[in-house]
Amino acid sequence: MVILTMNGVRVQAEEGSTLLEVARFYGIDIPTLCYHDELTPYGACRLCMVEVDDGRRTRLVASCLYLVREGIKVKTHTERVMKGRKLILELLIARCPNSKTLQDLASKMGLDKVRFKMENKDCILCGLCLRMCAEQMGSGAIGFVGRGQKREVVTPFREASEICRNCGACMYICPVVETQCRGIKSPGELCNSCLIITPQCSEKYGQVMCTLDSCGACVEKEKKIV
Ligand code: FES
Repeated sequence: MVILTMNGVRVQAEEGSTLLEVARFYGIDIPTLCYHDELTPYGACRLCMVEVDDGRRTRLVASCLYLVREGIKVKTHTERVMKGRKLILELLIARCPNSKTLQDLASKMGLDKVRFKMENKDCILCGLCLRMCAEQMGSGAIGFVGRGQKREVVTPFREASEICRNCGACMYICPVVETQCRGIKSPGELCNSCLIITPQCSEKYGQVMCTLDSCGACVEKEKKIV
């Protein structure tokens, strides 16, 4: 067992566990986008960043990758951390403005504007789809190509893959190619309509409907208010 401090409280953690796992075990909410319990952590989005003081210096680290160490002091919601997370989210929303997952995170984190030029992409390069395909579906039909701005997820040689079984697992796990936010009216706008209502579809279909099509309750509500 390793003893460390998390938000001023001494906690115990199993050797080899990550800061994110420890935080979640103790009920501390840290936002993530590229992390999934059943997949190898990849550290792409950095949204899970926390502040770690290891006795020599204090720095921001990705909690989904950083392993616990004896005596370190971890802070999960300092001003520096929150600023960093908001900046990352702002950049991601500028890239994929209609992602409901990103819009919901913005609402929860109190992000109310995006200062960057809007694009209209459908991928935040989190790599969840690749890991899902390779690790859970045992296929490995897609991968990253290119660097920087040109980085993207494709099949080998951009051709229909012979090993892809069209299982849809890559789409299922993608935080962007799911229900699109329908409440945005102008570029840069952040919507939190669905967080303040109870979507009608959840009563009837549970979570299933929300991954297939938005129930539109947010839009309906706005019409009534107008
Ligand atoms: S969740 Fe840790 S880097 Fe994305």
